[in-house]
Amino acid sequence: MKRNIIITGGAGFIGSHVVRLFVNKYPEYNIINLDKLTYAGNLANLKDIEDKPNYKFVKMDICDFEAFYQLMQDEKIDGIIHLAAESHVDRSIKDPFTFARTNVMGTLSLLQAAKLYWESQPTPYVVEHEMADGSKLKAQSRFYHISTDEVYGALEMNRPEGIEPPFKTVASSEGHKAYGDEFFYETTKYNPHSPYSAAKASSDHFVRAYHDTYGMPTIVTNCSNNYGPYQFPEKLIPLFINNIRHRKPLPVYGKGENVRDWLYVEDHARAIDIIFHNGKIAETYNIGGFNEWKNIDIIKTIIKTVDIALGRVELTEEQQKMNSSWLMAHGSLPDEMFPDMSLITYVTDRLGHDARYAIDSTKLQKELGWEPSLQFEEGIEKTVRWYLDNQDWMDNVTSGDYQKYYEEMYK
Ligand code: NAD
Ligand code: TYD
Repeated sequence: MKRNIIITGGAGFIGSHVVRLFVNKYPEYNIINLDKLTYAGNLANLKDIEDKPNYKFVKMDICDFEAFYQLMQDEKIDGIIHLAAESHVDRSIKDPFTFARTNVMGTLSLLQAAKLYWESQPTPYVVEHEMADGSKLKAQSRFYHISTDEVYGALEMNRPEGIEPPFKTVASSEGHKAYGDEFFYETTKYNPHSPYSAAKASSDHFVRAYHDTYGMPTIVTNCSNNYGPYQFPEKLIPLFINNIRHRKPLPVYGKGENVRDWLYVEDHARAIDIIFHNGKIAETYNIGGFNEWKNIDIIKTIIKTVDIALGRVELTEEQQKMNSSWLMAHGSLPDEMFPDMSLITYVTDRLGHDARYAIDSTKLQKELGWEPSLQFEEGIEKTVRWYLDNQDWMDNVTSGDYQKYYEEMYK
């Protein structure tokens, strides 16, 4: 099967994993990575696949309607996987206009260009490809929009001590707890609180409106917090790994009690692959691994993992025998053993800081057979190792404007 697919935001964190997966797994597809290369976009994230014959990079702003419409025609695009966005909540609080422009107007621009092109086909929304042997192949078009669980708002943390969770997956950590009785379902009413989530919610509405009004074949997915390699170090996990390495303070917002639900980025990319190919048109799928963590607990886990990896803590022979992730999950290594615990610095809370996110992905698991592959403790160890082993990548993205951002953000 031949397909011509644009992946927007492919130079960013999640997008680069999606591009890599598609380029490697589907040599018969043409994959076009469309990215404006903002501060968050980095082609070094894709060094390993940039010379593959089925991969092409196009530098473009998703708000450039004319250029995108032309690209659709030139490349006979039948699939769009849309990840390009401004993605950081703290930046959205300082500069909401940029978020409305990119996330709302940019998405609308893609939708309208795709609609015009796909409706101009002899059979609307079916794109005909000319094959090397002269035969014709028809591909049903698809607009797949990647969204976030943050559009649902915040869940109550009515079980702050944690309860035995109603769900578990392979990703759930060993000591997994739920911190409330409610979860985000596909049917949960949108109730965004930050300018970031409000802009994402608006873009989700536009995508669904293009299905309901014009019959565009759309799909929307809402995923929980991702972690893993190539994440820009303004987000909690890479920021803190880097700060621990350099023994800089760790700015914990509020009391560190907020809860996020973490999924390894490659598991998200695999879900995107499955849903792009097998998801039902006009459906919404939640993606998440049932893996809730209070920020402060995750921060302590990261400190322990980095301190062990850098040899700042020497484990006894007996401790070494035990799996270090097991030790962390059970909290059996005392905090006092880890010198970098002293870096924890409580700072003023984020404005409108959502208390708890926890996603129910049962529909995706039951209907499309997706399961996360990586358990959280393994994932965090792998992630810490990656950032420590790729200091050049970190140095590269933290040079220049990053310093200004950091000083402004944490002054
Ligand atoms: P990111 O900030 O790492 O990457 C965003 C990419 O989009 C960058 O490469 C950037 O250059 C590009 N981009 C930004 N504005 C653009 C524009 N106007 N035109 C073209 N390209 C532009 O983001 P991410 O964390 O990889 O998130 C990707 C998508 O997944 C976003 O839509 C986000 O809302 C969603 N999402 C993220 C998470 C998460 O935990 N990171 C969770 C759920 C959903
Ligand atoms: P972040 O990685 O920005 O993701 P999101 O806000 O989209 O969930 O933040 C994850 C959690 O960590 C969130 O509750 C805010 C908190 N946080 C801090 O406490 N300090 C920080 O410096 C950052 C960036 C985040």
